[in-house]
Amino acid sequence: VVVKDFAGSIMGRLAHVFKKAIKEAFPTVSVPLVLAEATNPKFGDYQCNSAMGISAALKAQGTAKRPAEVAADIVAKLPVCPLISKTEIPPAGFINVFLNEEFIAKQCGEISRHGVRLPTIESRRVIVDFSSPNIAKEMHVGHLRSTIIGDAISRLFEAIGFDVLRLNHIGDWGTQFGMLIAHLFDRFPNFQKETPAIGDLQSFYKESKKRFDEDAEFKKRAYECVVKLQSSQPEFIKAWNDICDVSRKSNNEVYDKLDIKLNERGESYYHNRMEAIVEELKTRSFLREEEGRHLMFPTGCDIPLTVVKSDGGFTYDTSDLAALKNRLFEENGDWLIYVVDAGQSLHFETIFSAGRDLGWYDEAVKRVEHVGFGLVLGEDKKKFKTRSGETVRLKDLLDEGVRRSEEKLKEKCRDRDMSEAELTAARDAVAYGGIKYADLSHTRTQDYIFSYDRMLDDKGNTAVYLLYAYARIRSIVRQSGVSQEEMDKYAASNELLPLGHPKEVKLAKQVLKLSDVILQVVDTLMLHTLCDYLYNLSTTFTEFYSECYVVEKLEGTSKVNMNRLLLAHVTANTMETALNILGIKPVPKM
Ligand code: ARG
Repeated sequence: VVVKDFAGSIMGRLAHVFKKAIKEAFPTVSVPLVLAEATNPKFGDYQCNSAMGISAALKAQGTAKRPAEVAADIVAKLPVCPLISKTEIPPAGFINVFLNEEFIAKQCGEISRHGVRLPTIESRRVIVDFSSPNIAKEMHVGHLRSTIIGDAISRLFEAIGFDVLRLNHIGDWGTQFGMLIAHLFDRFPNFQKETPAIGDLQSFYKESKKRFDEDAEFKKRAYECVVKLQSSQPEFIKAWNDICDVSRKSNNEVYDKLDIKLNERGESYYHNRMEAIVEELKTRSFLREEEGRHLMFPTGCDIPLTVVKSDGGFTYDTSDLAALKNRLFEENGDWLIYVVDAGQSLHFETIFSAGRDLGWYDEAVKRVEHVGFGLVLGEDKKKFKTRSGETVRLKDLLDEGVRRSEEKLKEKCRDRDMSEAELTAARDAVAYGGIKYADLSHTRTQDYIFSYDRMLDDKGNTAVYLLYAYARIRSIVRQSGVSQEEMDKYAASNELLPLGHPKEVKLAKQVLKLSDVILQVVDTLMLHTLCDYLYNLSTTFTEFYSECYVVEKLEGTSKVNMNRLLLAHVTANTMETALNILGIKPVPKM
């Protein structure tokens, strides 16, 4: 599933006309279209850089034509396009494209009437596996990254109308449950009648692990518990559920705070399906027995998958094979995404290769991918830990963010007339938005340094900066005294949103780029591109606002420039759309 159709975006429209022109001018060559944003306004807004490739291809066919001549031939065949005001061909053979301001003004007028429009692409069913912590071990910052990135990817797809299934593939099955259940039986003999007060699951885990390592009798009992659990004996299922519930509750607290929706579908869900997979692999002769284990050796992979352990149990590999098949055949996913730390890339390569060997999917039709990410580091550039070296509990991390954000707002709030509820909304936007944005604005595949100071800084590419910028625009609109109704009326009565000043034009162009950016992110799943866009949009607004008065004061009277007001309003709406995709809720007052 490659995103090829660029409907509704500027780049998409340009691609359409350039492809057409190239096909007409050079029917014998087929080279991919090269289209990019211009790096310098002197060279226009966009550049088509296909002429060099075409010239080379022609040469290979025995025809010599300089890139600049090729470019001229392409331009001669360009269909009439309302988007383009002019093209220029420098000697090297680039085609510089200048956008038509009337077109820009028209598009902005449309947004002012109908709201921000996102590109329309043929809908797909996307399955996003994210967050996916393990029961009994505290969710850690790695899972937080997965949670934030996976949620943003899901929101992005939802925003463009894809059918999204958000799955929390929690580690709720496996041998560790044997010792947990055995320990639960000992600690809470009454557990059948009352919900056991397990309290802190991490210490409970540690206690049982200690017994498991030191006490042979306990260890034996733990193994028996696994077998009984996996054969679904009610007592064992109840104990297992009680344990999972403790984790579930603390995880849900984190999800609620961050406003993240997830469907829990842990490894246990695939238990019966794992049995079926083993059968399938056996009958199709994909398994090799080695020292009692059943292994699969997928094409091109160094390490085999352990499908059945020597004790007959299943593994992480088995559950991922079952999950892959389920998502392809039962859920009919067109696009499967696994948001998991980069440390697991080998695991996923092997699983996907197995899926291809088994003929489960064709890469030309389905996209199955591991969306990996780097580590979260502390300010000392080492693995993120508490001072005493423990795993940071996510709840504590979020609470600390809220505390600091409140402090920050106390010293910095610009709107003095805020209610208690508005202050809380601003505080949460800064805290949770800050944590999400710090993660998303870094290149996903790299490690990033977690720093409250950096994320709560109101300068630079941070959530706080963007949130202030957004609130400022909303405040400009409020202060103008023009009501929403009056604005709507004005927008409805003008087909164009006229652009006079060069800074207005620049801002309008930036607003319209959202669709290009969205399409790019849909393809690459690199959310920092959207963050960079937002940051550019805010700075472009600042440039605009410092030169273009929205409310013009003349000899004691003030007059609202409605076009500029509308442009500001459209900018804020665009920011809001982009922030929402990132899972950030901007507030109108701050
Ligand atoms: N529970 C795993 C972990 O914490 C992540 C699971 C990711 N999803 C998957 N389908 N394997 O490492």
